[in-house]
Amino acid sequence: MVEGKKILLGICGSIAAYKSIFLTRLFIKAGAEVKVVMTPSAKDFVTPLSISTISKNEVLSDLFGNDTWNNHVQLGRWADVMLIAPLSCNTLAKMANGICDNLLLATYLSATCPVVVAPAMDEDMWLHPATAANLEKLNSFGNRVIPVEKGELASGLYGDGRMTEPEQIMSFLDRNFFFSESLKGKKALVTAGPTHEPFDPVRYISNQSTGKMGIAIARELAQRGAEVEVVLGPSSIEINDTRIHVTRVQSAEEMYNACLAIFPSTRIAVMSAAVSDYTPVSFSKEKIKKNSETFTLELSRTKDILLTLGEKKKAGQILVGFALENKDEVLYAKNKLKSKNADMIVLNSLNDAGAGFGYDTNQVTIFEKDGTEIPYGQKAKQLVARDIVDRIIKLL
Ligand code: CTP
Repeated sequence: MVEGKKILLGICGSIAAYKSIFLTRLFIKAGAEVKVVMTPSAKDFVTPLSISTISKNEVLSDLFGNDTWNNHVQLGRWADVMLIAPLSCNTLAKMANGICDNLLLATYLSATCPVVVAPAMDEDMWLHPATAANLEKLNSFGNRVIPVEKGELASGLYGDGRMTEPEQIMSFLDRNFFFSESLKGKKALVTAGPTHEPFDPVRYISNQSTGKMGIAIARELAQRGAEVEVVLGPSSIEINDTRIHVTRVQSAEEMYNACLAIFPSTRIAVMSAAVSDYTPVSFSKEKIKKNSETFTLELSRTKDILLTLGEKKKAGQILVGFALENKDEVLYAKNKLKSKNADMIVLNSLNDAGAGFGYDTNQVTIFEKDGTEIPYGQKAKQLVARDIVDRIIKLL
């Protein structure tokens, strides 16, 4: 429910901006606290005076005003959710490309809270591939898009592009967004990224994992209200989310130790890290010189974190593993489900284009202990994370 929630409403220049007045009133009536940021052109459609009267707060639209700097970072941290409604084509394109030329965009870029957008535009603009690509980008950033509706448009034409009605937007937030309550009070552990297994001060063996998939899962779990612990291998991605606690590790051994310490207090554990299966037997304190034509590195098996957690798992704990295969995928995934005592295995095949390491998209099949097998189409990693978390909630 929106009651008691802090909603930061962004309004863009669009005919649909008149609906923002109703939207603000609905939120206030439902007991939410509302602050509003408008783009400069939004003021041509609704006046800040109307909005500030209804929201009971000053409306902000400039980065600087009255000789003061409007703190966009604090606005994004204050809010439980940032809702941009209506979202114009222009602001959408800027958001997708990280452009920051007004207060609304600066707030969006610095927001640590979840972001939802309700686009409004003419049908031809809505159907343009540039719009679809920009929305896809927002999806991949983890933002939620409230689909447009069919109806009469500002151009006088009839078609797709109308901003959803305020009542629908509010129930969208209730249903899809403040569903954060569904994992409230539950702790989740997620491993992400690769590991580095060093054999001298400058060299290590590793793999191509970036950590994107695991971090998307961590964000999704946090969005649903879980208390999230991420054990993150060497990844260039900064999580910067106040709802997620991150333990940075380098090697498989460090990841193993961190997970074992955290696991007993968690209800959900998702092992999405690409942990090195082998580590060098010895470490040379001095940099190894190229003294010979060939060089042999002796490796030993690392401890299998998923397997160990599977052995330690207690009733009520949900354990999820990943399988990345390029041959006999289904067979291997099903074997992993059993051999690691997991409740769910998420399979991604290296044979699917746009799936696996480094991509912003993924294509997975979920296998569950009771034999359930669900293949999904290719989608943004944040949407894949949503599917995985939906299944976890079902299992709980
Ligand atoms: N995993 C782990 N600890 C390890 C190795 C892997 O927790 N030391 C986890 C991964 O995070 C992933 C799953 O195990 O969830 C992958 O299973 P694994 O059997 O390691 O896959 P492969 O390395 O592909 O193994 P194999 O080639 O033996 O099938």
